This record gives sequence, C-alpha cells and structure tokens, in this order.
Amino acid sequence: MLLSVEKLFKKFGGVVACDNVDWSIGSGETQCIIGPNGAGKSTFFQLLTGRHAADHGRIIFKGGDISRLPPFARANRGIAMKPQTLGVFPELTVEHNMRLTLQRHMSGAALRDAIEARLADLDLAHTLNRQARELSHGQRQWLGLGMAIGSNPDLLLLDEPTAGMSTAETQRTVDLIHRIGATGTAVLVVEHDMAFVRQLAVPTTVFHQGRIFASGTLSDIETNLDVQRLYLGKQGVAKLRN
Ligand SMILES: Nc1ncnc2c1ncn2[C@@H]1O[C@H](COP(=O)(O)OP(=O)(O)O)[C@@H](O)[C@H]1O
Ligand SMILES: [Mg+2]
Repeated sequence: MLLSVEKLFKKFGGVVACDNVDWSIGSGETQCIIGPNGAGKSTFFQLLTGRHAADHGRIIFKGGDISRLPPFARANRGIAMKPQTLGVFPELTVEHNMRLTLQRHMSGAALRDAIEARLADLDLAHTLNRQARELSHGQRQWLGLGMAIGSNPDLLLLDEPTAGMSTAETQRTVDLIHRIGATGTAVLVVEHDMAFVRQLAVPTTVFHQGRIFASGTLSDIETNLDVQRLYLGKQGVAKLRN
C-alpha cells in the first residue's frame, strides 16, 4: 500500500464530515471518490493534503504516519495536489510557470527538456511563450496539472479536475490522467460528475454523509441498486445510463 487511512474522523461543529473512514490506494493505482455535494469528498481530500487535521484516525503514507504533518511536509514526502482554484500565475508565461515548479528539481538543459516534454504531454507545447491568462479554461487546468506533477509525486490528488470543462476538454483530461497513471504515479480523483467517473473507469468509492457507502469497480458501482436508489437519486441514475 502507498497510502492508507484508518478510522479517519473529522467534525465541523455538529457536522461529521469524515466518519471513521478506512480507505487505501496502492502504488501506481488510480482511484476515484464520488458523491454529491456535502458527502465529505473535499474534507477527505483536505485531510490527506494536511489542510485540515483529523480529530482522530491515522494516515499512513509509505509506511510512516503523516497524520500530524503540515501540508508542505506531506508534499516533500511525495503527495502533490492540484487545488480546485489553480496554482497557475496568470501574468507569467506557460514556460515560466512550469519552470517555477521544475527548477526545484533540475536546471540547465535538463530543465528545458523537461519543460518541453511536459508541455508536449499536456498538448501545450504551442503555448510555451504565451501568458497563462491567455489560455483557455481547460488549458489552464492542464497547466495546473502539469505543475502539480512537476515534482514527480508518488501520489497526485485531484479535486474535481474537470469542473467547468467542455466535453472535449473532459475527454482529454481523462486521457491525461490515464497517461499520468501509466508513469507509475498513483492518482486519486475526487469528483461529483458521474459522466466523468464513467469515462475514467477506475476503482471507485462512493461517499455519503462522510461515510463509505459503496466501493468497487465502476461496473460494481453502476449496478449497485443501493447506490442508484438511495444515493444517486433519479438524476444520478439517468446520468449513469447516458
Ligand atoms: N471548513 C468547514 N467548516 C464547516 N463545515 C464544513 C467545512 N468544510 C466542510 N464542511 C461541511 O462538511 C460537510 C462535507 O463537506 P465537503 O467535504 O465540502 O463535501 P463535498 O466535497 O463532498 O461536497 C458538509 O456538510 C459541509 O457543509
Ligand atoms: Mg467538494
């Protein structure tokens, strides 16, 4: 196991946002967590990044307990995230944005090559000298993704990576996540959009009221009547069938 959580618990006032969750992800694995608004997905995400501290429970990463570590220490150990609000600097060029993250790990020709390779991977090679603010919404998201994987993390956390994207951009993001997964980086995608989850087609955990409601392969989830009836509602089922 790369990361596992044991009895992770977090309460905000009277609301239990993460209720004794047990969950794990292996090295190089891609997984998805879904659930409607308020299910506790972002809370779980922020418990992993260290933005929120758990009330109790443990987070074990590469064999060590990281539950009490601040965000930067978790990042140094190999957990990267792309925040929902982008970490991209709009006034800087695409190349400069990439350089800011990659220059911590390399320099000179290696740095230039790495920037070019990463941007080619993201279909952003042609935007090298443009300011990030000139990019489309989808392109900016991909640049943010490229910056998040700049440090070659062991685990990449993505909270709703396709929010605001067109269908075509969403498909490209799915392809990109599959390519990142193929490089050996474990990826956790937190998402409420069923269509996206269906395209991604990876082991999926359904959150409901801070708890794990169901988990399994995408087809397990799709055929789970409890998920359809009690959790996704009519709209969710309709989305699944689309
Ligand atoms: N910082 C916070 N302060 C108070 N309540 C919060 C906070 N963050 C989340 N919550 C509450 O915790 C529950 C889970 O929220 P969240 O994790 O954002 O769900 P999701 O990402 O699945 O929509 C909700 O009831 C939400 O109102
Ligand atoms: Mg959320």
